[in-house]
Amino acid sequence: MNPNGDLNARDKTEQRLKYASGYHAPVLCNTVIQGLVTNPNGVYVDGTLGGGGHTAAMLDVLSSTGRVIAIDQDDEAIREASLRLPEAISSGRLQIVKGNFAHMSTLLAGIDLDQVDGILLDLGVSSHQLDAAERGFSHRMKGPLDMRMDQTQSLDADQVVNAWDEADLRSIFFRFGEEPKSSRISRAIVAARPIASTEKLADIVRMSAPRNAEAKTLARIFQALRIAVNEELQVLDQALEASVDLLTPGGRLAVISYHSLEDRRAKRFLRSGNLDGKLEKDFYGNVITPWKEINRKPISADEAEIAQNPRSRSARLRIAERLNNEKTN
Ligand SMILES: C[S@@+](CC[C@H](N)C(=O)[O-])C[C@H]1O[C@@H](n2cnc3c(N)ncnc32)[C@H](O)[C@@H]1O
Repeated sequence: MNPNGDLNARDKTEQRLKYASGYHAPVLCNTVIQGLVTNPNGVYVDGTLGGGGHTAAMLDVLSSTGRVIAIDQDDEAIREASLRLPEAISSGRLQIVKGNFAHMSTLLAGIDLDQVDGILLDLGVSSHQLDAAERGFSHRMKGPLDMRMDQTQSLDADQVVNAWDEADLRSIFFRFGEEPKSSRISRAIVAARPIASTEKLADIVRMSAPRNAEAKTLARIFQALRIAVNEELQVLDQALEASVDLLTPGGRLAVISYHSLEDRRAKRFLRSGNLDGKLEKDFYGNVITPWKEINRKPISADEAEIAQNPRSRSARLRIAERLNNEKTN
C-alpha cells in the first residue's frame, strides 16, 4: 500500500480475489471501504449482505470493538454469509438481520441501535441470485417466473406476467425498463398467456423486439419485472430517507447502483437532501442539505476490475457524509 492508503494495481487485484467468493464478487471493494469507514471503532450497516464480501472487508478494517450489522432479505444470502463469517458472528462483531433495508430504522431499533457510523447499499441482485435458474431472475436460463429476493413475499413475477392488466405491464416496462416498445411487448405477453417460464417469456419478448435489439430488449424487460416484483425504487427511496436520521454527524452513506434509475435517485438525494432533487437555499443562497458529497461524480470500476468481474461494468458508487445540522426534511 502507498502512504495515502491507496492500493497499487497488484494489491487491488489481490484484495478483489480475497473478498470474492463463488457466490458473489463485491464491486469497488477497496474504494467503498476507504470511503465509508472513517471510525475503526464504529458501528456500520451493510444493508445488502449478499455473499458477505463487503461485510468481510469492513470487518477487516474495523478494530476489535468495531461492529457490522448486515441486512439481507434473502435467506440464501444469510445462510451463505453466516457460513463464511462464523467467528465474527460468535465474537459479536457481526450481527446478521433478516429484513428489507427499507425498514432499516425499525430493524436497528430491534437491536437497540438508533444511530450508526456508516451505511452501505450495494443495490440489486447478487451473482448467485442471477445464476441460480430456479430463482427466475435470468432470461438466459429456463426457470420459474419468480424473481423474489425475499422468497417469503407473496408477489412474484408469475403474477405480474400472467395476471396484471396490459396497461400496468406497459407502465412498468416503460418506467422501470425505459423500454421504447412497451406497448407492443405488453400486448404480446397478454396474448400469449399463460406463460409458465422465463424461457417462454424470453421467446415472446424476443419475437416482439426490433431486429438486432433482442438482447437489450430482454435485459430491459427482465429488469423492469424485477424492479416491480421487489419494489426496488420504492425501497431505495425509503432507505435513503431513513439514512438521514440513522447516521451520526460525520457518518457516511455509500450507494452502489447498477442502472440509471437507481443512480439518478441516489444522486438527487445526496445532492439536495430530498427525493425530488429540489434545491432549498438559505438567505445567503447556500443549499440546505444534510449531506456533503464526497464524490460529485459517481465512481466506476476500472478496466482491471471489469476484466476480472464483468458485472462491475455498470456499477456507480456515490458516497456522502452526514453533516452536523438538523436538516431532516
Ligand atoms: C449486489 S448484492 C450485494 C453483494 C454484497 N455486497 C457482497 O459483497 O456479496 C445485493 C444483495 O442485497 C439484497 N437486497 C437487495 N435489495 C434489498 C432490500 N431492499 N433489502 C434487503 N436486502 C436487499 C439481495 O438479496 C442481495 O443479496
